[in-house]
Amino acid sequence: MSGAWEVALAELQARLPAGRLLAGDGDALEPYGLDESDLGCFPPGAVVRAENEEDVRIVLEVASRHRVPVVPVGARSGKSGGSLAIQGGIALSTERMNRILEVSGEDLVARVEPGVILATLQAEVEKHGLFYPPDPNSLETCTIGGNVAENAGGPRALKYGVTREYVLGLRAVLPTGEVIRTGHRSIKGVAGYDLTALLVGSEGTLAIVTEVMVKLLPRPRHVATALVAFADVDAAARAVSRVLAQGVIPRCLELMDDVSLAAIARTSPGRFPAGAGALLLVETDGNDEEQVFDEIVRVADLVAADARGEVLVARDEAQRREIWEVRRYLSVNLKAIHPLKLSEDVAVPRSKIPEMVARAKAIGAGLGLAVATYGHAGDGNLHCNVLFDTAAERPRVDQAVAAILRAAVELGGTITGEHGVGLAKRDFLELEQGKELVALQRRLKAVFDPLGILNPGKIFPPA
Ligand code: LAC
Ligand code: ZN
Repeated sequence: MSGAWEVALAELQARLPAGRLLAGDGDALEPYGLDESDLGCFPPGAVVRAENEEDVRIVLEVASRHRVPVVPVGARSGKSGGSLAIQGGIALSTERMNRILEVSGEDLVARVEPGVILATLQAEVEKHGLFYPPDPNSLETCTIGGNVAENAGGPRALKYGVTREYVLGLRAVLPTGEVIRTGHRSIKGVAGYDLTALLVGSEGTLAIVTEVMVKLLPRPRHVATALVAFADVDAAARAVSRVLAQGVIPRCLELMDDVSLAAIARTSPGRFPAGAGALLLVETDGNDEEQVFDEIVRVADLVAADARGEVLVARDEAQRREIWEVRRYLSVNLKAIHPLKLSEDVAVPRSKIPEMVARAKAIGAGLGLAVATYGHAGDGNLHCNVLFDTAAERPRVDQAVAAILRAAVELGGTITGEHGVGLAKRDFLELEQGKELVALQRRLKAVFDPLGILNPGKIFPPA
């Protein structure tokens, strides 16, 4: 270890209150080197569990002076390697900054610290009859800070949009140690550049967020959930395009293909209709019960020509939860059929959904690999998961992933609809965005972080 590192640690030890710094104990550091990306374990040299903004400021100030990397870490549930300490340094965890500071029914906003678990925030605002729609499916573990860093989406984004559309303002500490406040408490506000929007989705490369102000909605009083079975994924994908082309926007329109259903049959036997080659999970919501039900019937009618068998409508809250539980944990449960996977999150224009699904399958077949496709089909955001059994297959898997990302770009889409670029997709950013745009973003990064200490090596490939 370099002298600068030792001095930085000693300074942190002296300046931070007791109990914040974890260093020297490999077992304690190792969990901070992992996320849900399956990209490997990259433990930091030390962890600081910040309890307030001043802790964050001290870490960035000391790290700047000694040129030590700082990697912001939330719940470690990210899927693109954004929180992995690939160059070592300090992992700055906001897990202890977990207070809900305010829920205002009058202004329809909540103000929270970044370490608040999403489910806790949602439960709290629901007590006030309010609603915070984004949920990337990991609501029980993920934090709002992580959601902001990655601009998290999830199933309800179809009707309600992604995290960025709910963040009104932020407090954040820049790598140089300056504290900034962006945005406004009002719904409208156009003063200056929209730095709130820039920080949301910046994957912890521009600043460390210490407070988030989100917009809330009145909670819809009624929700209807239905499952529709199809003979194959192609028919299901066609049905998605048909619904959207008719101008119907349910709150969720989730697709699960045959490989996904095989995994579900292993982990939750009997939960879904047997013999289906693909499923669509449809959900509508609103305040008028009849209208919510009518809308789901309308969707069922629109897809009837492609569907197979009865449409299953959840009778009560327990059935809804049962359906969602299987979908929610699908990403984890795919390992029931092959222990390893690389999970993609491409998004394509809606008209290209059937073609993207077909291309992902064909790419897998061509390389002798199973590809499970599921996800937020209504958004054109598909999780194409390349499944495999041993590390020896990895070169072939990487080939399949590259081909899937290329196909998404060719179809006018993106390499990442919601998980972020992080480490996983940094080599493909230029493929999607071109040299000029990537170069401009590198310059922007340097404005915020002139020394390049904050989450180095993420989003952009090494120069
Ligand atoms: C999901 C996560 C993996 O949709 O994005 O399940
Ligand atoms: Zn998803």
